[in-house]
Amino acid sequence: MRARKTAFSLLPFLLVSAFGCTSEGPPSDDAPQGASSTGQAPDGGVDLGPNELPCDVREVLEEICVSCHASPVAAGAPMPLLTRHDFLALSGDSGKTVGERSLERMHLAVAPMPPLSEPPASPKQMAVFEQWVAAGMPAGTCGAIPEKPAETTCASGKTWDTNATPTAQMNPGLACRACHKTQASDFNYFFMGTVFPAFHEKDLCMSPPPPGAKVEILDAMGKVTMTLTPNAAGNFMSSAIVAGVPIPYSARLVANGVTRSMNAPQTDGDCNKCHTEQGTEGAPGRLVWPRAYDAPPPPLPPVLDQVIPMGDALHVTWTATGCDKILLYRNEGGGAFSLVYTLGGSTVEQHDDGAYSSATVYCYRAQCKAGGVSSVDSNEVCGSP
Ligand code: HEC
Ligand code: HEC
Ligand code: HEC
Repeated sequence: MRARKTAFSLLPFLLVSAFGCTSEGPPSDDAPQGASSTGQAPDGGVDLGPNELPCDVREVLEEICVSCHASPVAAGAPMPLLTRHDFLALSGDSGKTVGERSLERMHLAVAPMPPLSEPPASPKQMAVFEQWVAAGMPAGTCGAIPEKPAETTCASGKTWDTNATPTAQMNPGLACRACHKTQASDFNYFFMGTVFPAFHEKDLCMSPPPPGAKVEILDAMGKVTMTLTPNAAGNFMSSAIVAGVPIPYSARLVANGVTRSMNAPQTDGDCNKCHTEQGTEGAPGRLVWPRAYDAPPPPLPPVLDQVIPMGDALHVTWTATGCDKILLYRNEGGGAFSLVYTLGGSTVEQHDDGAYSSATVYCYRAQCKAGGVSSVDSNEVCGSP
């Protein structure tokens, strides 16, 4: 049932020796039905070992990849990324595995994965995936991600009572216009839909939006032509039965300081028609508020300027921006660096270090710390008293 591109052929027997013996966890019999989970390559009967993902890797994939790389795929993604074997397969004729190619794409600035339409991978998510690929993509104990139909959820635990009097909070998740066309034609507004906290939330699940969240309708040039505010059920709607803006339109969800954008323009304003529990017509599933994931990006490191001997001290200078703290490290005569000063904020741009032996070269480097996250190391500057 799985639409697998033939270009993603499985790795040759080489992998058996690389991974076959180091695998942990039970064999893959309990992997989901229909997944390429038997450990047998369709072409050569090659054993790739267990098909299970490590738990932290699975979590990253579910958060930022599987909305599109599902089975069947959504939003034009070329292949599913649900099992360990999916990542051990060869990526086209590049000679690289899909895992290695994934990592490359996650690091690309111009055409990253997830695509620019999505909130970017966080440093922590990057690190989890990077370490797994660097370790040769070992098997874990958290199984494979199931194919669609994906399990449905209702984060709020509250559902709309279908016997209640119709209000703007009615029937979250159902195709509003499909019903209003015949049953509520006065309220058959051109743009209507529901935004949820996750891709497979159930029909009728009430879904209060995050503070300040909004739905933006854009024209073909990417200009915002209409802004809609969701109500306490997550429902949003325009105020006229005609579009009132250029069609085809594009759309963008804005929340938590990040956006999630539609790539292919649409002509139908009945959003929930395609953004169903599982997604139809190539949509990944529900409309989902974008999230800013865990840690903010690390700040830029300070730029160390120079070390000047001054009387009894070595005078170190630098420039820095946006730091809560400056961490200054020193080594002696090429030895290991250790933290010698923690200084307050980017307003501090110099420090005097007590002089030691004039026969020794002392080198300094620094890090900027902001919001609990440290930058990479700065450049090094050296000098002798
Ligand atoms: C919003 C949908 C979407 C999400 C989310 C997404 N992808 Fe993709 N991915 C695509 C599309 C569309 C393509 C094909 C076009 C392209 O290559 O840019 C693709 C292509 C790829 C390819 C093959 C491209 C190549 O250059 O060989 C890899 C590997 C990949 N994605 C990995 C990932 C990984 C890993 C994640 C999560 C970190 C991810 N993708 C998240 C839509 C998505
Ligand atoms: C199964 C049919 C059905 C679906 C699905 C449906 N509605 Fe309705 N809606 C109705 C009916 C019936 C009325 C009442 C019409 C009347 O009073 O003339 C109504 C009325 C409304 C009204 C006017 C309520 C008022 O304040 O008087 C709004 C706003 C509304 N719906 C929004 C939505 C939204 C948003 C969705 C989708 C998330 C939706 N509806 C889905 C049947 C439906
Ligand atoms: C006819 C089907 C259809 C309708 C109707 C539709 N969409 Fe989509 N939508 C899609 C498809 C297919 C995709 C995946 C490809 C893409 O990103 O354009 C998508 C993707 C999106 C995305 C990006 C989601 C993601 O996770 O990558 C957003 C945001 C979006 N749509 C918003 C809307 C809004 C808002 C409406 C209603 C005003 C709407 N859509 C109506 C089919 C539809």
